Amino acid sequence: MWVQNAFQRLSKTTSTRLFVGLRLAKDTSGMCWRGVLYDAPTIAAAQVQRHEVQANGKKTKRGGVALSRRFLPAKRPITEQSFAESASRTHHARRVCISASAENGHISVGNGFNEQEKTELVLGIESSCDDTGVAIVTGDGRILAQSLASQNELHAQWGGVVPKLAQGAHQEAIDGGIVETTLEKAGVRPEQLSAIAITIGPGLSLCLRVGVRKARSLAAAHNLPLVPVHHMEAHTLIARLTAGVENVQFPFLALLVSGGHNLLVLVRGVGEYVQLGSSLDDALGEAYDKTARLLGLDVGGGGGPALEKLAKQGDDKGIPFSVPMIRKGNCDFSYAGLKTAVRLAVEDKVGDDPPSESNMQVRADIAASFQRCAVKHLEHRTKRAVTWARELEPEISCLVVSGGVASNQVVRARLAEVAEQAGLPLICPPPSLCTDNGVMVAWTGVERLRLGLTEAPPTEEQAALEATGEVDVSLKPRWLLGERHPMAVQLGSAKGMKTKRIHPALTGLCTPKELSSPS
Ligand code: KG4
Ligand code: ZN
Repeated sequence: MWVQNAFQRLSKTTSTRLFVGLRLAKDTSGMCWRGVLYDAPTIAAAQVQRHEVQANGKKTKRGGVALSRRFLPAKRPITEQSFAESASRTHHARRVCISASAENGHISVGNGFNEQEKTELVLGIESSCDDTGVAIVTGDGRILAQSLASQNELHAQWGGVVPKLAQGAHQEAIDGGIVETTLEKAGVRPEQLSAIAITIGPGLSLCLRVGVRKARSLAAAHNLPLVPVHHMEAHTLIARLTAGVENVQFPFLALLVSGGHNLLVLVRGVGEYVQLGSSLDDALGEAYDKTARLLGLDVGGGGGPALEKLAKQGDDKGIPFSVPMIRKGNCDFSYAGLKTAVRLAVEDKVGDDPPSESNMQVRADIAASFQRCAVKHLEHRTKRAVTWARELEPEISCLVVSGGVASNQVVRARLAEVAEQAGLPLICPPPSLCTDNGVMVAWTGVERLRLGLTEAPPTEEQAALEATGEVDVSLKPRWLLGERHPMAVQLGSAKGMKTKRIHPALTGLCTPKELSSPS
């Protein structure tokens, strides 16, 4: 209740007050709290709503506690030591995740990683598309072990990912003990885990189900909380692990470019997204993959990397492709037209000839020209998104570029320029963590666990029924990351989007109301 009020008041005024919304972490003895902090640099004290937990862990009693000046270094930048993940760079963080603990009746606020959290261990499982990823990550962002079973070669001979084959390969990886091996590599026993994070969407149902069943049966066997994860949130938040939470503070802008999605999102906090733009048709990764196939490349190591390699030898102005949506004043993307132009160019200049020395140069020119236009499109939309984002949040801290295509060197170089012109640091995770992996899921688990956004495990009986398929598990194969920006709706270019059976946006799951009641 109190937190909800705080949210409302914050939205009405540019307040100089500080609000802390505290949420009970389910996995603690009742004296540790999670929260959301709204800060302004010049305050001296703040009221914190405290929920006291009885020994049975269920009943709560509420009371107001004043945070003393000791915890609010009013005139100094709020640093990691004094206040968690706060905006030491600008003083102006509007939302910061903290943890607070109550000892002897005093509330103290930790730096986001209290001793307990440093040793928290989260297992992450990813199986939304064609990679089975597993990792164990600690509360302070150390990767203890990770494994990846990639299916690139399996699908190379087909026109794209074949869901049935992908499902079989995920199952094989899981049955082959990829989770157990990763735990062993990390030197962690399942009962030592704090939680299991699992991608529940968006993605291919057949594939998601394999990972979800495994996560749920393990959670049931060891009575561990589950953290359901949005795949694109994981691509976003991984930047906070790789660059450090102090360098990727909320709010920030994220460009997410993968095989299934192109998104520009304003990230206000964990689970709080405003979608500024999305693809009306193909995602960029898909366009790379299809272009690579049209050019007869060996896509066994992935279409994107193969195309990037060939493009290095080509003239990027050799073929006059046009940059998509140049006159559309929004942040949406479209790659269908460019893809068709590439197909026509291949038919015209290469025909049915197999790749050879004699047509190598023209194929390289097509690859380079495609890449130049495709990336220019990203640049244009991202520039506009910076403006839109700043209208909502003037203090965005950085530009994050993530997802499989963000491992491309040209994409990184061009977006670095966009970021520089906008006066924002560019944060790209290392290529191996841009493409699908288990680490990003485990880390998202850490971030959500810190806010108490977990689910109880199923009973062992329930998990057994789920394992045999007698009872289905809940998945979100089509799941929006955030509500659309009003301008994106008004400029109305998302007509082509299939809207049937879409799960409400993730952001809807983390409403102020939800945060207000400890569970
Ligand atoms: O994020 P991701 O691993 O999986 C999805 O969530 O879809 O992205 C995979 C996509 C593929 O389409 C792949 O071709 C593309 O990312 N990709 C690249 C590069 N590496 C991977 N595209 C362009 N250049 C690359 N170097
Ligand atoms: Zn992905």
